[in-house]
Amino acid sequence: MFDTLETLPDDPLLALIGLYRNDPRTDKVDLGVGVYRDEAGRTPVMRAVKAAEQRLVEGQESKSYLGLEGDLVFLDLLWPLVAGPQARVRTFAGVQTPGGSGALRLSADLAARLGSRRVHLGLPGWPNHAAIFKAAGLAVATYPFFDIPTQRVLIEEMVAALEKAEKGDAVLLHASCHNPSGSALTDADWAAIAEVVARRGLLPVIDIAYQGFGRGLEEDAAGLRTMIATVDEALVCVSCSKSFGIYRDRTGAAFAIGKSDTAVAVARTHLGALARTSYSMPPDHGAAVVRTILADAALTADWKAELEEMRQRILGLRRILAEGLRGRWQALGAIAEQEGMFSLLPLTEAQVLAARHDHGIYMPTSGRINIAGLATARAADVVQRIAAL
Ligand code: LMR
Repeated sequence: MFDTLETLPDDPLLALIGLYRNDPRTDKVDLGVGVYRDEAGRTPVMRAVKAAEQRLVEGQESKSYLGLEGDLVFLDLLWPLVAGPQARVRTFAGVQTPGGSGALRLSADLAARLGSRRVHLGLPGWPNHAAIFKAAGLAVATYPFFDIPTQRVLIEEMVAALEKAEKGDAVLLHASCHNPSGSALTDADWAAIAEVVARRGLLPVIDIAYQGFGRGLEEDAAGLRTMIATVDEALVCVSCSKSFGIYRDRTGAAFAIGKSDTAVAVARTHLGALARTSYSMPPDHGAAVVRTILADAALTADWKAELEEMRQRILGLRRILAEGLRGRWQALGAIAEQEGMFSLLPLTEAQVLAARHDHGIYMPTSGRINIAGLATARAADVVQRIAAL
């Protein structure tokens, strides 16, 4: 039977990891997958994570099952970080998931159970969103989000598209640090989107995967909080991969926000049942690390300080990129004001491949660059090569 299967193409983002690794050039540059890198090109284990792991090694007394929802203390500590004051106002149910992608899949499955037949995704977007929602049986519709040549958020076009969505449709929104454009919605944009979503009875599914890398931990969740304050029901998908640098530990959470304790308690049973038929229970380690950090004031302070150092490094690189690229593409001056790890260059696929073959500069064919992949000392040189493509 296996002979009847056709080979599928590699995942376009993850394939870059192997392509880059196999390139023998020593001056190669990895601007591909969204992982933070330091000046030396390493993805460090954060100081607070190491300290928490040490405590876990010494203090953990059992590795017995925790249950479908995973680590309940982790969930209780993570939610206020994301929801801020809304955590005290809105009733919610959370389940720990294998990464943000696990949260997205559970949310897509739950949306299907709630009767959502379509999900609306912004263009350009993260390719895996469409794949996940399709796998859960939803049809994919798109709304315009970002214009690459002018580097502008298409807020009016986006709101107009959502005005045509049908009651019960899911709408996927990036909380901040938009992947791939790095562009930010203003407070007024969020208020306008939340108003349409509430009035038309749409189900917002908010993906927050880069909290702390944009304008700051609180600021990066502000739009999400506006949405939660405005709508009756929402699903929030949290990834701890980037914010805590624990990518391979697969740590995330799905939160359902509803109108009453009873309603969210019912939703929790569904999220649990969906987990049970997929992976049963989430891996423990990453959530235990995050819980240990967030339960300890000193570790939390150190984690925040290191995250801020990472954010500042990216901001510095953004300024170099904006300065170097605006000579070739004027609109790319906007890179300095964009947020998070990504920006989107107006490159053709042929130019992206030329950057790879001729210069050892790796990025996906969309022209997305992971700015954290640059070292400050080499940034000007890389910028020059990109501008000459
Ligand atoms: C990315 O967009 O590069 C990251 O979110 C990694 C992934 O899973 O695609």
